[in-house]
Amino acid sequence: MPYVAAIDQGTTSTRCIVFDRQGKIVSLAQKEHQQIYPQPGWVEHNPEEIWHNTQEVIALARIEAQLQAHDIVAVGITNQRETTVVWNRRTGKPYYNALVWQDTRTDALVAQYEREGGQDRFREATGLPLATYFSGLKLKWILDNVPGVREDAERGLAIFGNIDTYIIWHLTGGHYNGLHITDVTNASRTQLMNLKTLEWDDDLLQAFDIPRAMLPQIRSSSEVYGKVTSEVLPGVPVAGILGDQQAALVGQTCYEPGQAKNTYGTGCFLLMNTGTEIRQSTCGLLTTVAYRFQDQPAHYALEGSVAITGALVQWLRDNLGIIENSADIESLAATVSDNGGAYFVPAFSGLYAPYWKSDARGVIAGLTRFVNKGHLARAVLEATAYQTLDVVKAMEQDAGIHLNSLRVDGGMTVNELLMQFQANLVDVPVVRPLITETTALGAAYAAGLAVGFWSSFDDLRQNWAVAKTWEPSMGSEDRNQLIRGWQKAVERSFGWAE
Ligand code: G3P
Repeated sequence: MPYVAAIDQGTTSTRCIVFDRQGKIVSLAQKEHQQIYPQPGWVEHNPEEIWHNTQEVIALARIEAQLQAHDIVAVGITNQRETTVVWNRRTGKPYYNALVWQDTRTDALVAQYEREGGQDRFREATGLPLATYFSGLKLKWILDNVPGVREDAERGLAIFGNIDTYIIWHLTGGHYNGLHITDVTNASRTQLMNLKTLEWDDDLLQAFDIPRAMLPQIRSSSEVYGKVTSEVLPGVPVAGILGDQQAALVGQTCYEPGQAKNTYGTGCFLLMNTGTEIRQSTCGLLTTVAYRFQDQPAHYALEGSVAITGALVQWLRDNLGIIENSADIESLAATVSDNGGAYFVPAFSGLYAPYWKSDARGVIAGLTRFVNKGHLARAVLEATAYQTLDVVKAMEQDAGIHLNSLRVDGGMTVNELLMQFQANLVDVPVVRPLITETTALGAAYAAGLAVGFWSSFDDLRQNWAVAKTWEPSMGSEDRNQLIRGWQKAVERSFGWAE
């Protein structure tokens, strides 16, 4: 039986999932990697650990289902976006740890660029506001602060990539031979690519002072780029690349303009397909590339990005020790019937959509002696739903349509209490599909389409089915009162890091 494999390199772990033609999981292996926090606001990953884990999970996924490399007809890559790596083309060694998308060390640079030309000075070209989130300023920071990198970059020896690029370079041979490529979706998150031309933009490169020689070639999201030479999957075509949130959109089969999904992971990312039209946001969303399949025109999306959702549950577990396992949050939250007046605004990396406040920091508001750890657990879960509500409202205003349901996926969607509260807040049904591993599935779809394993979007649509729907069940008075509390708490978080 032929299968397609997907490598999903996320913020907290790396996974390899093998799918059959129905989109069912044949095997899955996963490994977490270290989160490195050298200073407040700094977040790094060790790229070599990530590459090591990638090889390990591929090998484990193959062993689990007893697969030979030739059983796998293609592999697709999906990845945490924006995270920035610079490595040496000759030795393969990174010059510095990967700067993770959540890292805020570029906030002074953001402020400087804003003073010079305003927060939206690059929005027309890139669809993105100035923020610490995107790769361009992270890359500039490495070039300006790590000795020797700029010189090596100018001679084409130091090369840049997001995690997709870094993994593919290694999979396809590394050391001068590795493919140095990315796809349009990942490139659209660097703030260095022009949304219309889908090429690196000279004005942007000049503004950020980035040598062109270090940038990967931008390719479509679905085509045969080359073959794996590494022993983990020898000879298998690498045929799909999608940033993880765009991959989830593809996995959820949102191919029509107006279709949207929300993925609940480390953060939350709501993407709506806007077809081949580039729609600029006026409500604090991002305009981004949704996918480009082979020689078809690119499809674009509006995106509401929320930095901290599942990561807040991990923080409660790891930094405060209030719960032992992430899953325990639900039973703890269920010990109380509401938030007891407490709100948690997890602005650990500033606030992303729709606020874009790099200087916001986390606050817990509304505390009284009545509040106990059950209420805090509830406030933690509810923070995810409120942040999603904020982006849903912005999306509806920008797109001029009313969402009649919310398609969800990702790890946190197993949390019934959260999903019900989410339905209550957005006041539309929340729908979870049968296959919730939509991120990896989207990358598998991109790769499988390129090699003819699937022949069309219609093939893929047949694999999508509803597993569960949560209907809203809250009155508008209660809802509005809760939302007012949230809005007050959000305002308290602004300007903290000024
Ligand atoms: O933009 C950041 C996003 O791609 C991270 O996704 O699933 O790794 O938290 P995730």
